[in-house]
Amino acid sequence: MIILTGTTGNLGSSILRHMLGLVPPSRIIASVHNRSAQAHEGLEKKGVHVRAGDYHDPGSLERAFAGGDRLLIVSHPSFSDELRVASHRNAIDAAKKAGVKHIYYTSIAFGGESKAAVMKAHLETEAYLRSAGVDHTIIREGVYMESYPLYLGFFEVSDAEVVVPGDGGVAWAARDDLAEATAKVIAGGGYKDETILLTGPRAYTLAQTTALVSSILGREIRFSTASQGEFVKRHAAKGDAARLWASTYPAIEAGELSVVDPSLERILGRPPVSLESRLRGLLGGEGEPRAEVSNWIDNGQRGAR
Ligand SMILES: NC(=O)c1ccc[n+]([C@@H]2O[C@H](COP(=O)([O-])OP(=O)(O)OC[C@H]3O[C@@H](n4cnc5c(N)ncnc54)[C@H](OP(=O)(O)O)[C@@H]3O)[C@@H](O)[C@H]2O)c1
Repeated sequence: MIILTGTTGNLGSSILRHMLGLVPPSRIIASVHNRSAQAHEGLEKKGVHVRAGDYHDPGSLERAFAGGDRLLIVSHPSFSDELRVASHRNAIDAAKKAGVKHIYYTSIAFGGESKAAVMKAHLETEAYLRSAGVDHTIIREGVYMESYPLYLGFFEVSDAEVVVPGDGGVAWAARDDLAEATAKVIAGGGYKDETILLTGPRAYTLAQTTALVSSILGREIRFSTASQGEFVKRHAAKGDAARLWASTYPAIEAGELSVVDPSLERILGRPPVSLESRLRGLLGGEGEPRAEVSNWIDNGQRGAR
């Protein structure tokens, strides 16, 4: 039995969809935060086991994970490191109590001693999982192409310029490619006690990414860098989100996100989706940049409360 968390979210829903193509639904347990979520209405009918599991309620997690062999912990979206790490610890501890044999954790693809604030909770969780005494696989998911508006300094489609506090390469990956590979890793087994880095096939600097967006939109978008202080001031209305996010850029400048790894292509058994084709889809109306940014801010702040 495979237990999946986060299945109402962007990454988790896509992992579930791919998982349903790999194993029978009766072998899947969806541990859901919001039991009444519309996204889950059809799942029980399909034969997926749907159970209530809240990262803040260890008892619910233990009940949700009972009888499962492999568990995927999708990281808790929050700006509070304390809350995120506590959630992940709760899930790992509950999994051990429930007799889960192998835990998979979705980390992100920053460096091992990252300068980025968003990586801190992942590094603490990775360390906890490595010492938990249970088989595990850490999947360092590459930067979502869908998150390009965040990385381009809270970009909105009407903007004429991108101003960020630093530049460097980002080996972007399509979220659905990451989800498909994650589902294949879990369904296929193996990777015991390994850390897998899933990235796109090449790194683009933020300046190159801006140029690509500019050519797809068919109008000039200027690119420049500013100090962290100026960036935070520029986005003062976003409060803590801007301060937290500013720390991502020294990590980008240090090359933390520019590492290209062949694992994604190997696991998918095909070339990953290119940045250009994904951006064409997103800028063609499929994904509104403003929504991606506001979801990230809302989820992070909701979790921090
Ligand atoms: N690699 C990247 O580039 C990248 C980019 C953005 C984000 N991320 C991180 O990757 C993770 C997944 O991203 P995503 O876009 O799929 O996030 P998302 O759409 O916000 O989904 C998060 C999932 O977590 C669940 N959740 C929230 N609070 C919970 C709780 N207390 N107990 C159990 N489950 C809870 C949500 O369930 P409900 O809907 O029921 O609340 C939802 O299913 C997040 O941690 C996010 O910060 C990575």
